[in-house]
Amino acid sequence: MIRQSIKLLSVLAFLLAVGAVSCTDDNEEDLMPADPLAQCSTDAVTFSGTVVPILAANCYRCHASSIAEGGVVLDSYEGVVEEAHHGHLVGVISHAPGFIPMPQDAPKLAECDIAKIRKWVDAGFPNN
Ligand code: HEC
Repeated sequence: MIRQSIKLLSVLAFLLAVGAVSCTDDNEEDLMPADPLAQCSTDAVTFSGTVVPILAANCYRCHASSIAEGGVVLDSYEGVVEEAHHGHLVGVISHAPGFIPMPQDAPKLAECDIAKIRKWVDAGFPNN
């Protein structure tokens, strides 16, 4: 009798464990926030092909040479490098403490775009 109960209990425990595991598998995407960088490729990042389009779409309306909010010009390679080499470019777009978050009037850039710009800066901001 006791032995039977133990057997039954272990069968139940086994079923529960299997159930728990398969539940976790099924709901993995619901339970764990999707990694925003999972689909992000930072291979083949270039200044002209990657960085310029991101800045043009998100920053030029305040940081083109003709406007230059805060004295920051981002529509020329030299202007971008000036912000990149002392860390401000990555600081403002990643909303790092101590930096004015950019773009000023809009939501933070996509994590993948931030990763691409960071990659280009880490590579020594080549003019490619
Ligand atoms: C709506 C206008 C606006 C947009 C869009 C904008 N900025 Fe700015 N930005 C400003 C203003 C205004 C300042 C000056 C802020 C100050 O000095 O208080 C500034 C300052 C900066 C600075 C200097 C901050 C520092 O700490 O040195 C950097 C770098 C910068 N912006 C980068 C960017 C980048 C990169 C983007 C696009 C992702 C962007 N900004 C988009 C208005 C804007």
